[in-house]
Amino acid sequence: MNNEIHSVLPNIINHTLVTEAQYRELYEYSLRDPESFWGEQAKKYITWFEQWEKVFSGGFDKVDVHWFQGGKLNASYNCLDRHLEIRGDRPAIIWEGDDPKESEIISYRSLHEKVCRFANVLKQYGIKKGDRVCIYLPMIPEAAIAMLACARIGAIHSVVFGGFSVEALKTRIQDADCKMVVTANEGVRGNKMIPLKRNVDAALQDCPHVNYVVVVRRTKNSVSWDQQRDIWYHEAIARVNVECEAEIMDAEDPLFILYTSGSTGKPKGILHSTGGYLLYVAITHHLIFDYHEKEIYWCTADVGWITGHSYGVYGPLANGATTLLFEGVPNYPTSSRFWEIVDKHSVNIFYTAPTAIRALRREGDEWVTRTSRKSLRILGTVGEPINSEAWEWYFRIVGQERCPIVDTWWQTETGGIMISALPGATPLKAGSAAWPFFGVAPLVVDDNGNILPEGKMGKLVITQPWPGMLQTVYKNAERFINAYFREFPGWYLTGDQAYRDADGYYWILGRSDDVLKVSGHRIGTQEVESALVLHSAVSEAAVVAKLDEIKGQSIYAFVTLKIGVHPSEDLKKELMQTARNSIGAIAVPETIQWAEGLPKTRSGKIMRRLLRKIVDNDLANLGDLSTLADPTVVDELIKICQKK
Ligand code: WT7
Repeated sequence: MNNEIHSVLPNIINHTLVTEAQYRELYEYSLRDPESFWGEQAKKYITWFEQWEKVFSGGFDKVDVHWFQGGKLNASYNCLDRHLEIRGDRPAIIWEGDDPKESEIISYRSLHEKVCRFANVLKQYGIKKGDRVCIYLPMIPEAAIAMLACARIGAIHSVVFGGFSVEALKTRIQDADCKMVVTANEGVRGNKMIPLKRNVDAALQDCPHVNYVVVVRRTKNSVSWDQQRDIWYHEAIARVNVECEAEIMDAEDPLFILYTSGSTGKPKGILHSTGGYLLYVAITHHLIFDYHEKEIYWCTADVGWITGHSYGVYGPLANGATTLLFEGVPNYPTSSRFWEIVDKHSVNIFYTAPTAIRALRREGDEWVTRTSRKSLRILGTVGEPINSEAWEWYFRIVGQERCPIVDTWWQTETGGIMISALPGATPLKAGSAAWPFFGVAPLVVDDNGNILPEGKMGKLVITQPWPGMLQTVYKNAERFINAYFREFPGWYLTGDQAYRDADGYYWILGRSDDVLKVSGHRIGTQEVESALVLHSAVSEAAVVAKLDEIKGQSIYAFVTLKIGVHPSEDLKKELMQTARNSIGAIAVPETIQWAEGLPKTRSGKIMRRLLRKIVDNDLANLGDLSTLADPTVVDELIKICQKK
């Protein structure tokens, strides 16, 4: 790893919120006295209807953590109402359409009105506090409006990424037992149409508890219609009142569910709270992006992911910021699109993923340098480790060596950013997420839970609760404990591998479990395997990650066919389609490798570790093969993989 320190330029220091000395002092204080630290921040960042009785209680030993118990607030009130007086006419959302000719600016006042109207629609169709509402929308303002409207009446939203398939949508609606789905007739991305309403129609064949589907008319194309069940969004909001009082919620009432993949079984419904979550995303958005009043902030993540929730919607709006929502893709109409949007709306803070940076870097500097980008001040990255080539390009070409990069490490479960530089305060090292945020206590440990010395790679755990942490896995407390607190009782297990260097910088190297990061999207190996074995020709499948220059990782699937089935290119295509149908395009294997047999332990467990080494051609480090049931399988696999 590159240990060079990039000095941060003076114009940044002058503009910064926290200096290095302040960081150290505050960090130390936040761990020594979390009660006082978070109590003070909660008063500063959140408007409470009633103050909490206790800042936090419980801990990781019994996994009985509570934040701001007894406190009353409403997330939508914090994101809207309280800004009206001073920021009512300021833009809350700048929406940039897929087509560069389409954009819209929505002021805080107007967003407030839209949210109140839609909240009344929810109520009119029977949605009550605690009910779950599925949001399956493209990147249009209605996505944020629907989320905030749910929050306003205390309904729990479950946003499902528009790229997920019918099957994936269905299992998420069923698991959360949603009563309503909010969707669009179609989505538009890169000038292609996505049949969202058609997917919802198909998914709802097996979801008897969904009573109503609200449909935003995004395109002119018509869709099939169920008179009893389907409601046009634009008609419904025109029929209701513009006034809707924000429901008084407990700090610990759930705000939303968001599904994410783990190393076992089906995706988990990660449940986030109202008080702790909102505070955590507000403070991290403010300090890590060094947000200053009136600046234009843009996070490119889709609202279907946690980044879109925390740093596209809740964090920035809680802070009264202007957040840009982009419907399209980085390379449509051309690979200049991101930078053209930066210039068009004078974006100051830009937050994206390494995979996008790598893909744009490959297209050449010219797409970037033909734009001005003079408004940019801070750059951010998230989702997977950023390699130093991509980092340097982002820093030098995109940011013209003027803008610090915040490499932000966090997870769906953590709610907000956990490890990151603070602009101006933290000298940057390319490829390192740098230092923990206030109140975050990470440790790197070995498999037995021994704390590792500097420079030694191990498992990353968090030893103290923080306000943004997940409350549980929806309706599955046991899975919550098993996934995060079973391996090292008393600590939260991140599932990542990392080391800490002599300057206290964390270097996150990737997952230590069976979770893949493909273009920053989180996919469980078992999920893809389960999808592949749905095909009648497949006997067994084992999925591992293969290193990929642009995507970071790609999906490499070993497939054993049933006896008598002949491998063919057509069959490969069918299997890819099976993965697409069961999960979505993000889960389609890049490579399908036919295998006569898979390496298994004597107890029948597939040794994915071995498959990973074979795929990466790391044959010198295959390790101990003596536990294999049939070691000849390995030679066979090496032979066929090398033929490629
Ligand atoms: C996993 C969580 C939370 C935002 C989007 C992803 C990886 C995330 C970084 C980073 C290295 C990173 C980790 C983590 N990851 N950010 N800056 N450097 N790795 O959320 O889908 O829940 O994925 O993304 O492996 O565990 P997610």
